[in-house]
Amino acid sequence: MKTKQLVGILTLLTVAGMLAIPVFAQKIQTTTALTSEEVYWLKYIREEEKLARDVYIYLYNQWGSSIFSNIAASEQMHMDKVRGLLDKYGIADPAEGNGLGEFDNDDIKTLYTKLIADGSASKVAAFNVGVFIEETDIDDLQKGIDTTTYRDIKTVYTNLMQGSYNHLAAFESQLAKY
Ligand SMILES: [Fe+2]
Repeated sequence: MKTKQLVGILTLLTVAGMLAIPVFAQKIQTTTALTSEEVYWLKYIREEEKLARDVYIYLYNQWGSSIFSNIAASEQMHMDKVRGLLDKYGIADPAEGNGLGEFDNDDIKTLYTKLIADGSASKVAAFNVGVFIEETDIDDLQKGIDTTTYRDIKTVYTNLMQGSYNHLAAFESQLAKY
């Protein structure tokens, strides 16, 4: 009786092991399947959304216009969406541990410094910085979409792009008042 129970348990463990191996193998495959271009754009767009958020926080502190704080909150959600993809595909987050105005990508850091200087000149200049950021985001998100075959990544980029079009329209309507 005891031997039968042992055999039963061993059989269950063997079956469980056989089931677990393909699941494990599948997981490894998912984390390594992205091309270097796909990884590049995920990391770039994560930092580009952070650039938008950080510049808008800076410009809100400078000018006090609620459009900057509202859109900064939206950029935080965009950052979170991209972070979700980085986690899903096992890619290190370039924004991890970086405070406001800090970036791993040197080009983005340089752009941040330029944009906060430009936007400090006047309120109109600040809204124009918003237009520039959103137009740049739309172009880069399109590049990201064109580079990936993954439906989940395309969906996130497409949603972010829709957000950018909304932000662009909001900044343009502010500019129309001046
Ligand atoms: Fe945006």
